[in-house]
Amino acid sequence: MNRDGGSHGWPRIVLGFGLIFAVFALFFAAGFGITAFIYRYTGPPPEVLAHILSGLTAFLLLGAVVGIFQAIRRHSDVAKRHQGIHNQLLDALAQIAQGNFEVLIDTDDHHVHHDIAHAINEMAKNLGTLETMRQDFISNVSHEIQSPLTSIRGFAALLKNDSLPAEQRQHYAAIIEAESKRLSSLSENLLKLSALENGKKPLSFRDFRLDKQLESVALTLEPQWSAKRLLVEADLQKCSFYGDEDLLSQVWINILHNAIKFTPEGGQINITLTADGDMGVVKITDTGAGIAPEEQFHIFERFYKVDKARDRSLGGNGLGLSLVKKIVELHGGRVTVDSEITKGSVFQVFLPGLHCV
Ligand SMILES: Nc1ncnc2c1ncn2[C@@H]1O[C@H](COP(=O)(O)OP(=O)(O)OP(=O)(O)O)[C@@H](O)[C@H]1O
Ligand SMILES: [Mg+2]
Repeated sequence: MNRDGGSHGWPRIVLGFGLIFAVFALFFAAGFGITAFIYRYTGPPPEVLAHILSGLTAFLLLGAVVGIFQAIRRHSDVAKRHQGIHNQLLDALAQIAQGNFEVLIDTDDHHVHHDIAHAINEMAKNLGTLETMRQDFISNVSHEIQSPLTSIRGFAALLKNDSLPAEQRQHYAAIIEAESKRLSSLSENLLKLSALENGKKPLSFRDFRLDKQLESVALTLEPQWSAKRLLVEADLQKCSFYGDEDLLSQVWINILHNAIKFTPEGGQINITLTADGDMGVVKITDTGAGIAPEEQFHIFERFYKVDKARDRSLGGNGLGLSLVKKIVELHGGRVTVDSEITKGSVFQVFLPGLHCV
């Protein structure tokens, strides 16, 4: 508690009242002076009216002066706020230029710079998301490079042992070969994806028979499915499609390759091609491991593998389905998955503009 407050309080109150009185007196004097000046020309009115008029003039004067002061203060407040936002905008842009995307400019909807501030906030948010994606991408690529390299290095070191039985030597050499293939498919798929994503790969569209393409892809993969004693059946409507033949063939290879990879020995794969109007549907069904519902949302993302710690023998970098999605979308279509764990999966590719007989 301030004990001095009491001793200083009274003089201040007296001073305050004195000041208010002085201001009123000044304005009344001014009001009186102005009306007296006017009466010189008009002649004085009755005394009571003269008092009322000079009092009114004093109040009007006082009101005008207070109004002007308030307008000046409001104007300088607005100018200060403008300057504040202006500085915030410059500061935010400087931070973004330095790579810090966690900026947020605080403005209200009525502010003249609101649109710019909102656009800068959006830009910072999007750049932040891109930056996170870039960092995730680098760490995924590094991981995908690192793990095959580690096994190549390890098995190459084991191969140096001269007393190794021939069978084991073969086994280690096969692992080294498979891991090198995985590395080269990583770089190949990454190049393809980035070329497709930034539109650098020109698409060469032409008419071709989609059913024939599916048949030939299934036949090309025969060594893989017959090695696992899989039953592969196809029921294909005769249809032609206008698209990039090589890219589309990559779509079927990737989906079928997964079906073969994730289906246990003795399983079955079905391929059908049907059309509803000009909308074609390619359906690839397997009796494999299946994918849990919460994983199904992610399998088309780059580097996504359901079983992260999966056996090396299955290979793969988690890029196949992201390529599928990109290629199908470039053809105006979409790809869906429907799957039940341990029962199998159904991948459907919808392609518009099919001509079937
Ligand atoms: N037919 C399927 N049955 C079960 N799981 C599947 C099937 N197809 C895809 N998946 C799951 O989706 C993941 C992503 O598939 P994707 O083809 O993108 O990558 P990958 O096969 O692991 O590697 P890559 O295709 O680059 O060689 C797979 O790792 C697998 O977990
Ligand atoms: Mg794959």
